[in-house]
Amino acid sequence: MIMRNNYIKEGLARIGNEERIFYNPHMKMCRDISSLWVGTLPKIENLLDGFCASGIRGIRYRLENTNIEYIHHVDRSSRAITNLKKNLRLNKLNQKMNKCYAEDINRFMLTNIDYDYVELDPFGTPNPFLDCMLQNGPDNSKIKYISITATDTAVLCGAHHRACIKNYSSKPLDNEFCHENGMRILLGAIGRAASKYEWALTPQFCFSHRHYMKVLARLDRGALKALESATQSQKYLQYCPHCMFHEFLDKGFAKKSCPQCKKEIEYAGPLWGGRFADEKVADDMLRVLQLREEFMDSKKLRPFIEMIKNEAQGPRLYYDTHELASRYKVPVAKLIDIVDELRENNYFASRTHFKNVAIRTDAPINIILEAMKKRGKKLH
Ligand SMILES: C[S@@+](CC[C@H](N)C(=O)[O-])C[C@H]1O[C@@H](n2cnc3c(N)ncnc32)[C@H](O)[C@@H]1O
Ligand SMILES: [Zn+2]
Repeated sequence: MIMRNNYIKEGLARIGNEERIFYNPHMKMCRDISSLWVGTLPKIENLLDGFCASGIRGIRYRLENTNIEYIHHVDRSSRAITNLKKNLRLNKLNQKMNKCYAEDINRFMLTNIDYDYVELDPFGTPNPFLDCMLQNGPDNSKIKYISITATDTAVLCGAHHRACIKNYSSKPLDNEFCHENGMRILLGAIGRAASKYEWALTPQFCFSHRHYMKVLARLDRGALKALESATQSQKYLQYCPHCMFHEFLDKGFAKKSCPQCKKEIEYAGPLWGGRFADEKVADDMLRVLQLREEFMDSKKLRPFIEMIKNEAQGPRLYYDTHELASRYKVPVAKLIDIVDELRENNYFASRTHFKNVAIRTDAPINIILEAMKKRGKKLH
């Protein structure tokens, strides 16, 4: 973000530097990645920029991509919409192709046209807006791509346990893999909402960063697909706080005690049990990024997208190596060395963007500990 006296520059867009209009520079990377994803999609006839505030998202999508026909920007604040109109003029954008509405988003989505791309960027949880989004338009048949932000990370990650049960009907875990767990709770809520209206959810590129989680996903219509997606949205996992054992309950019944240490075991869910990113989508985004190096920070974005691409091919959940080292009194090893050691022994192993001291692997805990002992250094 570049700040001039009277305007802010982000990506290819400029917006007025108005004091009372919401603009968060920490969401720049979220907008960068979302705009890259838009760039990988086929033609979008109608894009809804919900909760548009200054319009920075929609304006960036418009200026950085050539595949969008109409954008409708919606914010219930009339001050935001007056400001947005100035920002459209500042960016030389035509108000026929970029229409502005000062309305409540739920009412708007139910009564306006069908959109093929819906952006929801609310304060806090997106859950109260999912049903209207999924019933969008008179035909309710067109929605294909959804881009949803959640900033209630403390709720999803279990710091506000009861709020998560109330808002998402799901039990969180406040533990070392709470960020992936939180992402899966959010995806589970979207998947369960979607299946009621015969939509199946397919996550394309979902990630957690700073104080927010972002879901970039596809929806496909059909009763059978929706059933599969509903099933995937209602998984549970078990976790042992004593020895760090974890597993998804894909089949069979929940265990009363940990299969590893026999102590009491906890659970989380219902939550999404499927994948949260697709490596082909990540490759497409990397190709688009190559064409945008002049105005996007590819040194920051490329490794982040590549990390998610790699881990997306691995098993669910990860281990915090510092937590393992302290609990099992083994040496701390460099992540890259543990990953190499596990790969040499034919296990899947990668880093994870959810936590910088964690590894995603299908190796059991005793094998990870062996790798840490072999490659690690004793702490002084
Ligand atoms: C997090 S900000 C949006 C940020 C913006 N998309 C960006 O990238 O800078 C949330 C915006 O939603 C608007 N808002 C809150 N509740 C709304 C509702 N029910 N319907 C429409 N807009 C709403 C607020 O006025 C605020 O401008
Ligand atoms: Zn245990």
